[in-house]
Parts: sequence; structure tokens; C-alpha cells
Amino acid sequence: MSDLKEKIDLTRLPRHIAIIMDGNGRWAKEKGEDRLFGHFHGVESVRNIVEGCAELGVEYLTLYAFSTENWDRPVNEVNALMELLVDTIRREVETLNKNNIRLHVIGDMEMLPEYASNELQEALEMTSHNTGLNLVMALSYSSRWELVNAVKNIGLDVKAGKIKPEEIDDKTLENYLCTSNLPDPELMIRTSGEYRISNFLLYQLAYAELYFTNTRWPDFRKENLYEAILDFQGRERRFGKTSEQIEKETKVAL
Ligand code: IPE
Ligand code: IPE
Ligand code: MG
Repeated sequence: MSDLKEKIDLTRLPRHIAIIMDGNGRWAKEKGEDRLFGHFHGVESVRNIVEGCAELGVEYLTLYAFSTENWDRPVNEVNALMELLVDTIRREVETLNKNNIRLHVIGDMEMLPEYASNELQEALEMTSHNTGLNLVMALSYSSRWELVNAVKNIGLDVKAGKIKPEEIDDKTLENYLCTSNLPDPELMIRTSGEYRISNFLLYQLAYAELYFTNTRWPDFRKENLYEAILDFQGRERRFGKTSEQIEKETKVAL
């Protein structure tokens, strides 16, 4: 076992880790290769991190794989990413089942080409009985799309008399988000040295601890994940309260 892994307090793991997997293109360019080469290598990192989270006992892992805005990339890159996605899912379903991992997707599935959404649907069904790690792929996802969609559906349900406007609270809104069955991420990691959220889980990340690393996604491995978790465990999460209040609460809980 690695030194870093041993230092992790397994009783204080983040229940939900969300990752913006960024830097594939630059990683490839730095090696004098095409951007697609970076995406292919990024898959190895996905495998490694999914395995790492499952081994530790993390309950939810959300991976930002393709944003709504990514549809505006050159068509050859978009097509290659879709094919890579379908290919990877087809190849990995067996391993997911073997490791008791359940696949979920969040995002605008209507934007995906039919062959991709069919493949995904199949994988969702094939892993639906698994009870270990929940692996959530954010595909064709953006937070503004999700929020607009939620508001639209709330409006329709108000109109249909299913909910009263004066009864709307944070729980109501959460029920209309793609993440209604997931706890909020406690740790959000972004690779590649960019310090932004890029339309990812804007509502759900309200109190997440943010961790940024210069490591490009294709180089990101379990050891890097352990570092992020250790950093998370060294922080004091105050949720608006004072440090003294938090200390008192922790003592009472012990
Ligand atoms: C992340 O890597 C993968 C996707 C957004 C699909 P990028 O493709 O954004 O790589 P960079 O940021 O250009 O290096
Ligand atoms: C965010 O990365 C989306 C994913 C990692 C899927 P981008 O590379 O698209 O984000 P920006 O454009 O640098 O903000
Ligand atoms: Mg990028």
C-alpha cells in the first residue's frame, strides 16, 4: 500500500467526489501529438481513478466528460469523443459489474447521437443492480441547462396544479435537478491548472471543497487522488458557522 493511501482517514472520506477531467488536449500537444491522442490516454486515468475510489469506499464519483459547450468543438473531435465514449462503455461494462459499480448519467441525453444514447441506456440497465460505487458520467451536461430545465418543469407542474408556488423550497428545486438522487459533492477536483468551474454543478457545489492541480488529466492517477483527499481531510468545513462552533460540535459527536 502506498504511504499516501495509509494516511487517509477512511472514516472521513468525502461521500461524493466530482472531477473536471481537463487537459487532455494540452497533454497531447506537449508530446507533439494530436488532441485525440490525449483523449485516448484520458481513458486510462478514468479506469485508474474509478478503481481507486471503489477501493477506498467512496460512494459517489461524478466525472465531467463532455459539456454542453463542448458540442461547439471541431466536428472531428466531437465525433471522436462520442466514439471513444461508446467504445469505452462497451469494453468496461463487464469490469463495472465485476466491481459492483453502478453507472449513472447526467446531462441532455437528447443531444447525443442515437448509437451513443442506446449504448449508454444498455450500460445503465446492465449495472442497475450494483450496490458499490456510483459512477456518474456528466455528458452533454451544463449546470445552466440543468437549472433552466428544472425551472421549466417546475413551472409546468405548478400550472398542472401538482405543486404550489408558495411551497417551493430548496428541496423542491433539488428534486428537479439531474442529481436529485445524489448527495452534493464534498470534494471537487479540477486537473490541468485551470481555476474555473466551467458550468459544472453550480448549485450542488455550493459547499464543496475545491481542489485544483496542475497535473493534466492523462497523468492523473490514484496517488494524485489520495493527495486531493488528504488535502480535503486537512480542511475545516464551517458551513457559515464559526470555528469554535464546529469544534464544539465535533467534540459532542465524539
Ligand atoms: C478535457 O480535456 C476533455 C474534454 C473537455 C472533453 P480538453 O480537451 O479540454 O483538453 P485541453 O483543456 O484543451 O488541454
Ligand atoms: C470542461 O472543460 C468540460 C470537461 C472537462 C468535460 P473545458 O476544457 O471544456 O472547459 P474550458 O473551456 O476550459 O472552460
Ligand atoms: Mg479543457
